[in-house]
Amino acid sequence: MILVTGGAGFIGANFVLDWLSVCNEPVLNVDKLTYAGNLATLKSLQGSEKHIFARVDICDRAALDSLLAEHKPRAVVHFAAESHVDRSIDGPADFVQTNVVGTFTLLEAVRAYWGALPVAEKSAFRMLAVSTDEVFGSLGPQDPQFSETTPYAPNSPYSATKAASDHLVRAYHHTYGLPTLTTNCSNNYGPYHFPEKLIPLMITNALAGKTLPIYGDGQNVRDWLYVTDHCSAIRQVLERGTPGETYNVGGWNEKTNLEVVHTLCDLLDELKPKAEGSYRDQMTFIKDRPGHDRRYAIDARKLERELGWRPAETFETGLKKTVQWYLDNQPWVNDVTSGEYRKWVGQHYA
Ligand code: NAD
Ligand code: DAU
Repeated sequence: MILVTGGAGFIGANFVLDWLSVCNEPVLNVDKLTYAGNLATLKSLQGSEKHIFARVDICDRAALDSLLAEHKPRAVVHFAAESHVDRSIDGPADFVQTNVVGTFTLLEAVRAYWGALPVAEKSAFRMLAVSTDEVFGSLGPQDPQFSETTPYAPNSPYSATKAASDHLVRAYHHTYGLPTLTTNCSNNYGPYHFPEKLIPLMITNALAGKTLPIYGDGQNVRDWLYVTDHCSAIRQVLERGTPGETYNVGGWNEKTNLEVVHTLCDLLDELKPKAEGSYRDQMTFIKDRPGHDRRYAIDARKLERELGWRPAETFETGLKKTVQWYLDNQPWVNDVTSGEYRKWVGQHYA
């Protein structure tokens, strides 16, 4: 089996669903269930022997040790993190705790477990750390895209803690020989995205008749990737990547925030027209995010050259699917926004 951390979050849950739809290997899902973790996303796996869930904090060494000893995974895929830049600006402490101390604790537990494995299992073992393009800092309009050799220059508390996490992973490979892999991915979007991030926030606000808040001049650029394309890239790197290497993952879809919001409004106008006017009428420009990175863009050619990966979705096909998913899954959105699912977690684990 494989152990996945953060498998109740946006990308982790998509990864678990995707993994179990393409292979039979069971998943041990280790998640603390913070505000961002939602077991409703994994409802379709209820009763499945292939999905074992453990509500555990990755900072809890004893709990990690006993899960590793009991389930003996052949690989670890590490998604668990505090992931929202705005929250990291308001309160960085949780980010240091989970993204730095948590990764360190996980690495220590995995190092001890891996070190005691028989030779064949030891050499086949892999630990993949899921990271971000934000560790590379911000690009100017004419700069080349981030490659695997771009120096780290994180600008937010979030990206600084992800960079620290990546450095620890790198050091555990270099120093102890732990067979690690790191992926640095651009902005994901798709189903089950928590509505604090740009795309799901705009869709849910638009449908609720609320304003669509655009930071600054709306000209910041992100490189968008449909979440299942990220999942397929992680699967490829896990199976065929070279230990110690890093792989950039991106969608070749650079868009300004204004372009993204315009496209979302146009899709909603087509799929769920308002009685009067356009969703664009709800757009409003607000104060910029402090230290707001201007442009991210990923050069994903190494992944294509070495492992044959390319994204399957274009921005247009992926965004249309996403908008349709939110229209079709309002109960999921309502649970999240009303805090219903958090109440359920509190009762269930009381
Ligand atoms: P998310 O915030 O939606 O989910 C994070 C998950 O981690 C949640 O289920 C949460 O409960 C869990 N978690 C948080 N702290 C934990 C702890 N201490 N112990 C155990 N579980 C804990 O995040 P996401 O958007 O799915 O991102 C997943 C990973 O991918 C992160 O490492 C993030 O840095 C990285 N990433 C995200 C994007 C993106 O666009 N969302 C892009 C590139 C990389
Ligand atoms: O690049 C990968 C990163 O993408 C991941 O590592 C992060 O975990 C993920 O949250 C995301 O970070 P961003 O800061 O790029 O994503 P966010 O959705 O928060 O914002 C995208 C852009 O939209 C950014 O330029 C800020 C802007 N924005 C965001 C919000 C929430 C707005 O203009 N208005 C908003 O209300």
